[in-house]
Amino acid sequence: MKKRPFIIDCDTGTDDAIALLAAYGCEEIELLGITSVNGNVREEYTSRNNLDLCEYVGFKCPVCRGADMPMASGYRNSSDMTHGHTGLGSIELPKATKTDFDSRKAAQFLYETAVEQKGELELLVIGPMTNIAIAIIQYPEFVSLVKHVWFMGGAVWGGNVTTNAEFNIWADPEAAHTVFMSGIPMTMVGLDVTLKAIMTKDDIKELRDNDTKSSVLAADLLDFMADRHERGGEDIIMHDALALAAALYPECMRYEDYWMDVELRGDYTRGHTFADFRNKMKKEPNVSAAMEVDVPAFRRWLVDKINSYKGE
Ligand code: BDR
Ligand code: CA
Repeated sequence: MKKRPFIIDCDTGTDDAIALLAAYGCEEIELLGITSVNGNVREEYTSRNNLDLCEYVGFKCPVCRGADMPMASGYRNSSDMTHGHTGLGSIELPKATKTDFDSRKAAQFLYETAVEQKGELELLVIGPMTNIAIAIIQYPEFVSLVKHVWFMGGAVWGGNVTTNAEFNIWADPEAAHTVFMSGIPMTMVGLDVTLKAIMTKDDIKELRDNDTKSSVLAADLLDFMADRHERGGEDIIMHDALALAAALYPECMRYEDYWMDVELRGDYTRGHTFADFRNKMKKEPNVSAAMEVDVPAFRRWLVDKINSYKGE
């Protein structure tokens, strides 16, 4: 079976880390690289987390540093209540000593890999879309070389930073707008479904009992999220791993196709993902949006994928 070539672009991030651990359990994909971006925490931390995590669990793929600022808005995170000061909650991974970052910045790596893959490359984008937008702007050919973007971000209904904006889109609306308008086929896994994708204490126990480096790290991350929830923070929500599931286990969700864009102006609506669900604009849909999820089926899939990766 030919594996599907993927790059994961992320702002790791507790739930990004879970998505990475699951991706390595997915035999259907070949992970060609991980690109890091400013988001949950600053890019120096998200990059460091990606490098340390890869070496710790024995992932073999290039890790690139990426954008440390959004395209226009000036937003730059320095610490985060949801993901802790360095992005991995209370988990301190050993510093990577045998590996270093790829010499290329994310946008160059994305483009060169897309060229090598001759139109087959798929992207899992689970942070702000800055790196992808830079690649689109710097390398116009990039758009025609990317087969699909699967992304966590936005919401047809609602928001989590403001009333109607989700974090990944809100953190760099200009980048998201660039990607939405690019013409690259896209599947959106937004808050409409991710807020329901909550793991349980039983899932954590199954991961811990599996007793691999990868599954125990996942259990530690989920335990941090459970504690965070008890302290009044976000629940054990698998925003980012659900976007991976859209790519690899699409049957666990139901989708609706819309023409969508990102609101760049507005006193109250900047970063909102507008879906023309009444088809007033008479434009071809550019996004397939996940609207419902079979949560037990997703949780089963996620635990199985993480548990199946045995490491080095
Ligand atoms: C998104 O923002 C981050 O907190 C998560 O990693 C996820 O990608 C959810 O809004
Ligand atoms: Ca993320």
